[in-house]
Amino acid sequence: ENAQLKDIIAHAKEYGFVYPSSEIYDGLQAVYDYGAYGVELKNNLKRLWWETMTRVHENIVGIDAAIFMHPTTWKASGHVDSFNDPMIDNKDSKKRYRADVLVEEHAAKLENDGKVEEAKQLTAALARLLEAEDLAGVRDLIINEGITCPISGTSNWTDVRQFNLMFSTQVGSVADDASTIYLRPETAQGIFVNFLNVQKTARMKVPFGIAQIGKAFRNEIVARQFIFRMREFEQMEMQFFVRPGTELDWYQKWADVRMRWHLALGTPAEKLRKHDHEKLAHYANAAMDIEYEFPFGFKEVEGIHSRTDFDLKSHQEYSKKKQQYFDPEVNQNYIPYVIETSIGADRLFLLTLCNAYTEEKTEDKTRVYLKFHPAVAPVKAAILPLTKKDGLPEKAQEIVELLKYDFNIIYEEAASIGKRYTRQDLIGTPFCIAVDHQTLEDNTVTIRHRDTTEQERVPISELHARIAEATSF
Ligand code: GAP
Repeated sequence: ENAQLKDIIAHAKEYGFVYPSSEIYDGLQAVYDYGAYGVELKNNLKRLWWETMTRVHENIVGIDAAIFMHPTTWKASGHVDSFNDPMIDNKDSKKRYRADVLVEEHAAKLENDGKVEEAKQLTAALARLLEAEDLAGVRDLIINEGITCPISGTSNWTDVRQFNLMFSTQVGSVADDASTIYLRPETAQGIFVNFLNVQKTARMKVPFGIAQIGKAFRNEIVARQFIFRMREFEQMEMQFFVRPGTELDWYQKWADVRMRWHLALGTPAEKLRKHDHEKLAHYANAAMDIEYEFPFGFKEVEGIHSRTDFDLKSHQEYSKKKQQYFDPEVNQNYIPYVIETSIGADRLFLLTLCNAYTEEKTEDKTRVYLKFHPAVAPVKAAILPLTKKDGLPEKAQEIVELLKYDFNIIYEEAASIGKRYTRQDLIGTPFCIAVDHQTLEDNTVTIRHRDTTEQERVPISELHARIAEATSF
């Protein structure tokens, strides 16, 4: 892992954002737990997404579907048959790899060594083989290129096999095929199967959307880069149902709306880009990713997909229940087309953390702080009495009472004021409010700003409004 990512992972653990899951047992690969500040940050991101979707757009409503779904759902969606990655094992190290990733990484190495044309040819050959589902050909490519296992150093490879990414489990006590159910690999299908329920009960008219936040599970073969690719993660998805023929306009519109949302959260434009998919999934007639420049390069954060009527049509076929909408404006029944926006809450969390992590070097030391947008910062203000005596803690507690019902506040009286400022910088608190002897006389406090470290004197009566304004989105 690269040095900057390593620093961020260490920081996230040290300051209560993200820990490896069940760490006392040495962790569980690609599964993570969120700590005191992590859960606040994640909740803030989810809330902002939810509010933008369901409140700002009067034609979008929410849903909370179950993780378990009828197994036929995943036949209809195509996940049982084609939600696969090609995998290969090294017989010496017993390590499992994604065959396509091994080839792609080799191509990247070639490109780094200046062998640009060779790298291009290799990537093209891989794409052809995957398209033709020629797994033996992928293995031949790995052998012929002399790609070795990074652990054992040998090229003693097994065959390439398709590996389905869905986790399965059993319902009830009898284990047979009929009782096998899956942990959902995307939240979207919970929206599709409820399309008519929601449309009718919330009295929605096309165009309208359904938004959902929830856990999804994928048995990723390659799980790396911290919380970028996890086996248990959270998705924030919105399916927008439109009249057939209008989908590509809506697709462009949603791509722009989502890009503006990322910019409004403080992600710099030069660190974001749109990337059109060259190869479309079987259900899509247009697709793009919004990518962010992580420490390990530009990678997908959010997908915008024009999914046609693939899902609803397929559910209609498998369930034998009509999935049609009567559009009074054109006096027609049709299966709506769907534009989907899909973003991982954990991946957005990683973007936010990477974007906020700041090291400022001065002559004798380095100042580290998290430059969160105040709207997502886990703690909005720290109330800090200058000393533990003379009635300052009591005065500070009065301020806590004033603010704590509307904002996540920390009260801290131990250690020097400088040390307490540093501690708040490390968890990204935008405002430190210092209570001193003057406060007792004139009811003013010092606000110390995280990014500039500048201080100003403010009446206590203005604090609530000041914080409310700064943390609004
Ligand atoms: N319903 C469409 C769908 O699931 P996807 O591109 O497979 O599309 C959408 O996933 C988003 O979910 C991604 O852009 C990413 O943010 C997040 N995501 C996907 N797999 C993930 C994983 N293993 N760990 C963390 N986030 C993931």
